Amino acid sequence: MPTTSTFGCCITLIKLECAARSIECAAHSGPLRDRSIKSATKSSEFASPPKEITLKILLNESQIGQGIDRLAMQLKAEYADRPLTIVAIMTGSLVMLADLIRRLEMPVRISLIQASSYRGGMKSGELTVQDHMMLDICNREVLLIDDIFDTGRTLVHVTQLLKELSPASVKTAVFLNKLGQSVVSAKPDYVVFEIPNEFVVGYGLDYLDLYRNLPFVGVLEESDLQKHANIEH
Ligand code: IMP
Ligand code: MG
Repeated sequence: MPTTSTFGCCITLIKLECAARSIECAAHSGPLRDRSIKSATKSSEFASPPKEITLKILLNESQIGQGIDRLAMQLKAEYADRPLTIVAIMTGSLVMLADLIRRLEMPVRISLIQASSYRGGMKSGELTVQDHMMLDICNREVLLIDDIFDTGRTLVHVTQLLKELSPASVKTAVFLNKLGQSVVSAKPDYVVFEIPNEFVVGYGLDYLDLYRNLPFVGVLEESDLQKHANIEH
């Protein structure tokens, strides 16, 4: 049964101390097996968040843990001990995936699919999907998970792709549902937290591929965006 839950909003101001890193990287093109090191780049500011960004914490670690507990219980009620194939939309659902599967007791298979629409920034762009890490889901019960339901286009599009692979069933679960942003009629079957229309990072969610490793969900304000202007990607 579709279920949603509200979030407790804990407003705390924190400062991220972001240590500058030195990185050596190999330029490459084509498949991994053909990769050769063509050049190396060193930069002390490469791909690091600005040193002083103030994030408002929307969901702390404890709230997130309780939310994932609730989702695991709902899934146990729905699937009991029947095998479940979880298809996780990369990269944002990575952290949720890791936390969720360790709370499930039925046999679980993990399949990955990559969908990108933000192209590194905040505005939704053209959706690209890569499915080379998909398992065979024919006749399987499938749960598609994603980090956030914003316009809803990603979840609807990927659900449609999965249905073409003849699964026994497809349900959807999202960590966050951004209220008032949906442009589709479908809704996720499971929502861990409803959030207001803010740009959030952490717990897998990124801005410019940064912040995914934060253990909490924080709001990135418009005024903080300018501070990212000089970041290389
Ligand atoms: P949708 O297709 O508009 O629902 O967008 C879904 C995707 O956009 C998510 O999987 C995220 O990668 C990205 N996204 C949407 N809102 C946010 C946000 O507030 N922070 C980070 N990523 C977001
Ligand atoms: Mg995503």
